[in-house]
Amino acid sequence: MENRKVTLTYNDGKDSLDFPVLPGTLGPDVVDIRSFAKTGMFTFDPGFLATSACESKITFIDGDLGQLYYRGYPIEQLAENSDYLEVCYLLLNGELPTAEQKAKFDYTVMRHNMLHDQILSFFKGFRRDAHPMAVMVGVVGALSAFYHDSLDINDPHHREVSAFRLIAKVPTIAAQAYRYNKGLPFSYPKKGLTYAENFLHMMFSTPVEDYKVSPVLARALDRILTLHADHEQNASTSTVRLAGSSGANPFACIAAGIACLWGPSHGGANEAVLKMLDEIGSVEAVPAFMEGVKAKTHKLMGFGHRVYKNMDPRAAIMRETCHEVLTELGLENDPKFKLAMALEKIALEDQYFIERKLYPNVDFYSGIVLSAIGIPVSMFTPIFALARTVGWISHWTEMIADPGMKIGRPRQLYTGAQRRDYIALEKRK
Ligand code: SDX
Repeated sequence: MENRKVTLTYNDGKDSLDFPVLPGTLGPDVVDIRSFAKTGMFTFDPGFLATSACESKITFIDGDLGQLYYRGYPIEQLAENSDYLEVCYLLLNGELPTAEQKAKFDYTVMRHNMLHDQILSFFKGFRRDAHPMAVMVGVVGALSAFYHDSLDINDPHHREVSAFRLIAKVPTIAAQAYRYNKGLPFSYPKKGLTYAENFLHMMFSTPVEDYKVSPVLARALDRILTLHADHEQNASTSTVRLAGSSGANPFACIAAGIACLWGPSHGGANEAVLKMLDEIGSVEAVPAFMEGVKAKTHKLMGFGHRVYKNMDPRAAIMRETCHEVLTELGLENDPKFKLAMALEKIALEDQYFIERKLYPNVDFYSGIVLSAIGIPVSMFTPIFALARTVGWISHWTEMIADPGMKIGRPRQLYTGAQRRDYIALEKRK
């Protein structure tokens, strides 16, 4: 039905107001409340549970059906048939690349993954035991001090160059953050490797011994990157959009996204899952742990999601990948994996979780896979950040290219003090 609307009626006799309903291609319609400001009131929606902050064509999620599409393609099909750089092309450009476009895109990304040698000196300003996410926030933000030739956000070529630089260099920065933390000399990208193979090479090669990349582990990591590439208007993507709406340069915006992702409720959850599994220790200790969850003394990390009220489709793919990697490594009896499987089974049968529609999310299994690959826990969220960089830059580009873009500036419900006069110090009690 065309020209649908929602009517706001007052119970104090004021004239009612009509607001147009805007249909999406998929998913819920939205009520366009942009004219609501003229009522002299604001809407109130802390945490944005019922608020769409923008229009986007990049990613679609259906939380009830557990669906996730990148530019219309189901995540299950992309995880099975595509690779991370092809997914990067898709998210940035809106279509799958032809063979020629893919070759050119891959070549361009893999030729921009070196860091300016002076950037390496930034790392040395950190304590060796700095969390790699602290290093990534700092170094990615500092890239704007180097790349003055791609900071004009209104120039499409500058936007494209920044996107390539970020997708190419963030893995190098993440790997160097790990190596600096370990006291290893910096490493360099190596030609002829895939994106995931090259990341593992930069992480684990040493001057005295080249790192032999396992194709199975590299494929598993590539799939993890694909699963984490984008996810609609999550907290860190919304952070990038809000930062970008002020006209800040893309490097500063991505640094803001990394900072937001760090939180344990968001991208820091995979690190928190591994710590939780270590804390639980054994299947026998699960019932007591679950009592603590129900008493709200702690959360079941890797469970629950603002949007998915069904299984996160990425969690199912991640569980399968977990199984493949552990079998490949002869670790199918890995105690952490067995504990995670037991925890998942118990939670999925427990009314507390069923009533609250709490299911495993993408972070529940990713940490186990990364651990099996040999990635230390402190590097889990940096890997999430490097995977999500393409999602962040795709949303940033979509927003900046929109001629109707406005600076984001929410209002509030003020419940503080009424107006009052200053009291001199000597008169205060
Ligand atoms: C990511 O947004 C995205 O798309 C994020 C992400 C992405 O790709 O960008 O998908 C990545 O961040 C995944 C989520 C990773 N986080 C965790 O695994 C941390 C644990 N999960 C929770 O912190 C929580 O589930 C959130 C933050 C993910 C969602 O929180 P909501 O939507 O604000 O839900 P809520 O806090 O209002 O919870 C509703 C109820 C509450 O109980 P009651 O007050 O109704 O009694 O569910 C409970 C909560 O206490 N609850 C949990 C729980 N999550 C919610 N109880 C125990 N364990 C949990 N994990």
